[in-house]
Amino acid sequence: MPRTSRRTSVFTESLIREMSRVAARHGAINLAQGFPDWDPPAELVAAGKEAMDAHRHQYAVTWGSPELRGALGAKLARFLGTPVDAERELVVTCGATEAMMVAMMTVCDPGDRVGLFSPFYENYRADAILTGAEPVLVPLHPPHYRFDPDELRRAFASGLKAFVLCNPSNPCGRVFTREELLQIAALAEEHDVWVLTDEVYEHIVFPPHRHTYFCTLPGMAGRTLMCSSLSKTFSITGWRLGYVHAAPDVIAQARKVHDFLTVGAAAPLQHAVVTALNFPGSYYDGLSAEYASSRDVLLGYLDQTGLSYTRPEGAYFVMLDISPFGYASDVEFAHWMTREIGVAPVPGSSFFSDPENRYVRLNFAKRPATLHAAGERLLRLRR
Ligand SMILES: Cc1ncc(COP(=O)(O)O)c(C=O)c1O
Repeated sequence: MPRTSRRTSVFTESLIREMSRVAARHGAINLAQGFPDWDPPAELVAAGKEAMDAHRHQYAVTWGSPELRGALGAKLARFLGTPVDAERELVVTCGATEAMMVAMMTVCDPGDRVGLFSPFYENYRADAILTGAEPVLVPLHPPHYRFDPDELRRAFASGLKAFVLCNPSNPCGRVFTREELLQIAALAEEHDVWVLTDEVYEHIVFPPHRHTYFCTLPGMAGRTLMCSSLSKTFSITGWRLGYVHAAPDVIAQARKVHDFLTVGAAAPLQHAVVTALNFPGSYYDGLSAEYASSRDVLLGYLDQTGLSYTRPEGAYFVMLDISPFGYASDVEFAHWMTREIGVAPVPGSSFFSDPENRYVRLNFAKRPATLHAAGERLLRLRR
């Protein structure tokens, strides 16, 4: 038989999705894969049902229905504080997952170098490899996950074509400060680098931290491909709706990539989600407040275990230090924890470029009852 491609042999299946399967096998509470265990807002579910009667069963406009782009453009303009041309500056994708792939393929050629912070959301390395680009890793140093400006400068000076910025960050929960983002912006300008942002957690930020949209920094609108999603904001991870926002000439290219990858996102769901994009500002404040209280429930239990963790500033993950258990492999620990404690985490090593076995990631996108049940089990980790 002929060989399958070399590029698909150099990365493994997602460890996050794998841990969900392990959780199911052991009947464990799944704090591995990050998705809410509650329903989306009732109006949105109703709009989803109505969409089936609204004759939206055929392909929508490839780059997103005009109604959805209009609503998305208006919502974005509100949060960015700048006008958004929904006709020329947006392409609707099948989730931020496709948005990031589209963004990378739009700006990178095979052989180009793409900078990533490590730890990183595991899709980015696969995106780079599938594009034929070479990932260049810049460490975020635990436990506070700050970058060293000299290390960042060296990476940019090594000849990057693009830099990927996940903010708020999965897995480490950082919300980068305006000063940090300005440092990245200055390097992008100096070395003429595209910045691909993944801002799917833009509305899950815990005070006093504040989210700064990278494209709003001086000079950055033209070199940013902002990727985001409706998955997390409206608790609809299964609807697969995301987008890229960038300058018109960039979006013209991105639309071609998107068209040939997927043609378009599900037409009835594009129609339905317009309802959510018209929610008032209080919806977004409520979302962050709810996640803050979920975070506090989980951290309350972790405090009782005596284990160290990094307090998340945004997103819905916490990195837990498992070094006191003395496991050589965090994967082995994660399997043990799923089996014996009954709570499934993700081994931290799946997010780091260097061998790193000290952490597991837990997510708190769960109802209070689920988090209390998981918390009671986690108390068995007490030293
Ligand atoms: C940082 C980050 N980007 C993208 C995604 C996927 O988003 P979507 O559901 O829009 O494809 C996730 C999902 O966990 C994520 O954590």
